Amino acid sequence: MSAATAVDLPRGPERFRTLWRLWRNERAEPEPFYRLLAAYAVDDLDAHHGPLAGQTIADLGCGPGYYTDAFRGRGAQVIPIDNSTDELELGGAPPEGYVLGDAGNLPLDDGSIDGVFCSNMLEHTPSAEPIVAEIERVLKPGGWAYVSWTNWYSPWGGHLMAPYHYLGPTLGPRLYEKRHGKPEKHAYGETLWACHIGATLRLVRSHPHLEITDVVPRYWPWAKPIMKVPGLRELVAWNCVIRVRRV
Ligand SMILES: C[S@@+](CC[C@H](N)C(=O)[O-])C[C@H]1O[C@@H](n2cnc3c(N)ncnc32)[C@H](O)[C@@H]1O
Repeated sequence: MSAATAVDLPRGPERFRTLWRLWRNERAEPEPFYRLLAAYAVDDLDAHHGPLAGQTIADLGCGPGYYTDAFRGRGAQVIPIDNSTDELELGGAPPEGYVLGDAGNLPLDDGSIDGVFCSNMLEHTPSAEPIVAEIERVLKPGGWAYVSWTNWYSPWGGHLMAPYHYLGPTLGPRLYEKRHGKPEKHAYGETLWACHIGATLRLVRSHPHLEITDVVPRYWPWAKPIMKVPGLRELVAWNCVIRVRRV
């Protein structure tokens, strides 16, 4: 599937139905799901912070580069960064110009980046703290960041261990592994950690140069008011988006 353009993206209930259908087949055929998500993301970011053409964007935890490709399709200069060669090569050749590095210790100058895109990476790194600090450091004043991740108490928070993760990050993975062995991908404490919405919002707010401009459930943005309700949001957001501006 090629990168969809803004014109042919499904909208409204059809958007939800299409994403759900592609997600259910994601393990067998990841590319259509991720290319469509990437098309939505760049469309949305172009509307919020565009034009993206000419902007320098760091794609943190870029994986095989579906988002990098979509940003480049809009004319942005993208720096794709990931700390795993395996993940960079999941789709074949790694994204052009990739940087093998840690998003918590970026090889980028202070105030050099217009936008930071960080999708589904926070839950795969032991602590969000160094990542958020680096976002604050590398963004230009007025720059934007889009940080999105599957929060722990979402139905998919435990990934292949779901629904055991509802027993908590200690007991859940322990019980799962006792009964089923290690999950095929994303064993807890190896490439998966519990990342909560409330704690991450507090972390971002503790950075004086970062301003949260919006908090949205990624796959059902129309349900945004739930993000104001501690507890409930951890259970029903599924995937949390924090939009940030560097002040
Ligand atoms: C689930 S994939 C997400 C890929 C892509 N961003 C997306 O949304 O589809 C998580 C990626 O984050 C990378 N990652 C995890 N911790 C990282 C870190 N500290 N620095 C850079 N990349 C990291 C992993 O190697 C993996 O490619």
